[in-house]
Amino acid sequence: MAVGIFAGSFDPFTVGHLDIVKRASGIFEEVYVAVLTNSKKTSVFTKDERVKQICNAVEDEEICNVSAISFEGLLVDCAKSVGATCTIRGVRSPTDFDYEYIMAQTNKYLCGELETVVLLARPEYLHISSSIVKELGIHSASIKGLVPEINESIVAERLKEYGRKR
Ligand code: PNS
Repeated sequence: MAVGIFAGSFDPFTVGHLDIVKRASGIFEEVYVAVLTNSKKTSVFTKDERVKQICNAVEDEEICNVSAISFEGLLVDCAKSVGATCTIRGVRSPTDFDYEYIMAQTNKYLCGELETVVLLARPEYLHISSSIVKELGIHSASIKGLVPEINESIVAERLKEYGRKR
């Protein structure tokens, strides 16, 4: 079985992300969840905080073959450095897919050996995104059921604080 890498901003890590991680952990021998700051997006959580959220959730679910890391630069270089031959992405909609398609083709151009596996989001998670969690949390609305339970209070507190300071 191959080693996979699931890269993203994870700002914050949602239950939709966790579902993709769980499913990927059953397909791949080892999965790296790799946190990167997307230069096109402003982050609320530091990279270390996001790595911690992922570690908490993975430990809580007792998933043994998943590690959280952070990286700078190109995904293909991070994939090579951990021995991953496949990148994993979750897709919620045709609009998501358009974006993923371009990214997958770009990664293929950069590294011909790297494959992309796309997992379709479960219907119950289609409305969940990090942006929606931020939007709700910043306005002190409940984020229950949107992020892994183990991270709920810390994520809610940070978003409330971020909302107050804006
Ligand atoms: O969660 P996101 O923000 O949709 O994740 C996007 C991410 C981080 C996976 C993507 O921006 C990425 O891979 N960035 C690293 C830079 C890179 O390798 N670019 C070339 C592929 S487009």
